[in-house]
Amino acid sequence: MTATTANSERSTFNPGKGAGQPVGIAILGHGTVGSEVLRLMGEHSEAFAHRIGGPLELKGVAVSDLSKPREGVDPELITDDAMSLIERDDVDIVVEVIGGIEYPRKLVLAALNAGKSVVTANKALVAAHADELADAADAANVDLYFEAAVAAAIPVVGMLRRSLAGDNIQRISGIVNGTTNFILDAMDSTGANYDDALAEATALGYAEADPTADVEGHDAASKAAILASLGFHTRVKFDDVHCEGITGVTAADIEAAREAGYTIKLLAICERVTDNEGREAVSARVHPTLVRREHPLAAVNESYNAIFVEAEAAGSLMFYGNGAGGAPTASAVLGDVVGAARNKVHGGRAPGENTYANLPIADFGVVPTRYHIDMEVVDRVGVLSEVAAKFSARGVSLKTVRQEESGENARLIVVTHTATEADLSATVEELSAMPDVKAINSVIRLGA
Ligand code: HSE
Repeated sequence: MTATTANSERSTFNPGKGAGQPVGIAILGHGTVGSEVLRLMGEHSEAFAHRIGGPLELKGVAVSDLSKPREGVDPELITDDAMSLIERDDVDIVVEVIGGIEYPRKLVLAALNAGKSVVTANKALVAAHADELADAADAANVDLYFEAAVAAAIPVVGMLRRSLAGDNIQRISGIVNGTTNFILDAMDSTGANYDDALAEATALGYAEADPTADVEGHDAASKAAILASLGFHTRVKFDDVHCEGITGVTAADIEAAREAGYTIKLLAICERVTDNEGREAVSARVHPTLVRREHPLAAVNESYNAIFVEAEAAGSLMFYGNGAGGAPTASAVLGDVVGAARNKVHGGRAPGENTYANLPIADFGVVPTRYHIDMEVVDRVGVLSEVAAKFSARGVSLKTVRQEESGENARLIVVTHTATEADLSATVEELSAMPDVKAINSVIRLGA
């Protein structure tokens, strides 16, 4: 049964339990986020009861290791049987803060199918399986909330789902990964190379022991998929996002960017573009990007996140704050718990997924962009014009060209006007095949 059929066959109004009735909560996971959710839920229980219209009652906490001490949690509430906890009749809302994909997917689907609303912080799960989860939530007429999945405490999901629901979003560009922002900011402010900046991020606890998901851009790509889906009312999955990480960014790139008036950020960019058939399409991508130093995103330092939204009527908006960490993520989770609990008490459902626009996903080659190319060329008569001819042959216009001495060779730094990704990348390929081009030191896209 499709979601549409399910919706048309069901009333979208849930009657609710009635004011004053308790709302049963099951928490799956007791790590950095789960323990903060529990702490704050306990500390603010009275206020939450007022905000909801009935008290939250913790029914259980599912963990994988029963032998681990769980400070501040009633041992009676701890279980390693997540499925049985989910299925209990007195559980109304399931909070998933485990991480990973397959195991939480099974649990979240079981919860939705059993008529429980779900709050998850799991970006990888939502970015990979949003259709399936949204269909299950629709079929059971319950809520599926995931504010914490993108930029933790920054209320960007609610902003796109509700606050900007009356506007037409053109572009979303965000710094949505704190680890990589910390590394790039350290490289920019101290001149450190990538390995030293990563080592500092690891020593300070920003980067995980295995930093792959962050530094290769996968974490940001999951968030880009979620942002693009919400912003353009179109299902965009993790696999639809073009993704390049920061491992190839060098101290020399950062220095060249600085000289040209830019800083380098790992941006998640989601925008409307025109595809090969002239249709409107959606592009979602993650890559190191040159950001003008005067742009608000350039001022987002350390491990902070920010999302810059350009909308037809609202104009430009920026949302800034903590994009990771136990308490900031718990703040977003608890906002969702309060929302889902209000619906359990008073009835109704939050606005769910809406992918009515169903735009095609643009091929990366049609995306309009600009390149900053740093290369070494032989310093002899005519080389500059041969290089320029490669650009003009593909219709790529040059905005600035800078030449510096570099030993026996010359260093050429070219910034292009906007062209398609396909034309720009083909031009770079042709340049690198020229005998007089000794090296392409770096190619970085301009973004904001
Ligand atoms: N590892 C992420 C970051 C936080 O560095 O921003 C969770 O998505």
